[in-house]
Amino acid sequence: MQPVNIGVIGFGTIGTGVVRILQKDAALLEKKCGRPLHLKTVAELNFVEKEGIDTKSFTITTDANALLQDPDIHIIVEVIGGVTPAGDFIRTALSSGKHVITANKELIAKQGKELFALAKENHVNLLFEASTGGGIPIINALTSSLAANTIQKVYGILNGTTNYILTKMYDEGADFEDVLQEAQALGYAEADPTSDVEGHDIAYKLCILSSIVFDHYFDIDEIYREGISAISTRDIQIAKEYGYVIKMLAIGVEHPNSVELRVHPVMLPKTHALASVNGSFNAVFVDGDNVDESMFYGRGAGELPTASAIMGDMVEIARNIERKETSAALNFGNSTRTLLPMGDIESQYYLRLNVKDKSGVLAEISRVFGDNNVSIRLVKQDNVGANNAELNIMTHCVKESQFQNAVSNIKNLSAVNDVCSVLRMEI
Ligand code: HSE
Repeated sequence: MQPVNIGVIGFGTIGTGVVRILQKDAALLEKKCGRPLHLKTVAELNFVEKEGIDTKSFTITTDANALLQDPDIHIIVEVIGGVTPAGDFIRTALSSGKHVITANKELIAKQGKELFALAKENHVNLLFEASTGGGIPIINALTSSLAANTIQKVYGILNGTTNYILTKMYDEGADFEDVLQEAQALGYAEADPTSDVEGHDIAYKLCILSSIVFDHYFDIDEIYREGISAISTRDIQIAKEYGYVIKMLAIGVEHPNSVELRVHPVMLPKTHALASVNGSFNAVFVDGDNVDESMFYGRGAGELPTASAIMGDMVEIARNIERKETSAALNFGNSTRTLLPMGDIESQYYLRLNVKDKSGVLAEISRVFGDNNVSIRLVKQDNVGANNAELNIMTHCVKESQFQNAVSNIKNLSAVNDVCSVLRMEI
């Protein structure tokens, strides 16, 4: 039986995982595909031997074009990340009739529409399960298993690094920088971890999910995004005290004439299903008209879980090659509905203030809230030194623009020393 020949571009965390599975599970994969999967070449600029990998069975090159121009290679796995040169490699591969598998969320989020069109034109597959949710098969679920649904809402935890950091800060009182280094050592973080910490990685993933479920393809820069670097140990303490956890969420909601997309940290009650999604695990909620609510849970980052998603795509393509067909091209974000302005979203809020501890301060703050139609759900005061107090305030649901306007006015009150923290809350 003729093998399906594989070329892998990138031998970092995910590339290593792909090679590891190809080597250790060769017999299983052959059984699943109906023919062997043969790793022919790995391209990597700075190749470093990895424990447990037999490097004698494949060719190593620093030149990705060696794979792209090899007529014997059927499938290219792109796992270098970033837009350039990854996008050029993928375009060359697709144009020369090679199937492509990628974990590259930034590229799919920014250029997916064009790349899927190119794949269709060349009758090849471009699969990207590993781009979103690591090992969770969410792309396949949304494009195939849940295809008979109109999806109203897709939201969840889509980044292993930030979830690992927030979990360790919450459970162990760990320091942000120390845990970030641990997440990097465990292979969860992007090459530049700013992408994780500031929410870019999550925005790419939300953009991809939104393109599939809402058929809306948005400019990544239009998606509202806040990272976790401003979350303090005091925020975590307060969350604990009131029965909440802090999680970094991606939220996508379909409205009658628009779509709401946002990425930011959120206070969630401990009883919320997402509150117990910890460490590098991710979870995605999908609310469809026929299926109702579904939750997908699994490892969102790391070598083998992410490589598992790539290998699933590889088996699909190998089966297609065996059957001499190509999976249907993806319909990716064709509608032109607009993005709901962030000021129009509705949420509950948590606000922490440092104020002067004197008569009339609470009355002034309440008046500003009242003037902006913000209804207070809870207020608690803790004394800070002799003359100052910490105010912890939670609100009922209100429009973002009204809450933010109230916060701006509160900031200007002479009795307010500092606005220490603002967090959205989900119930
Ligand atoms: N850096 C990503 C994360 C890897 O932490 O989730 C998976 O996309």
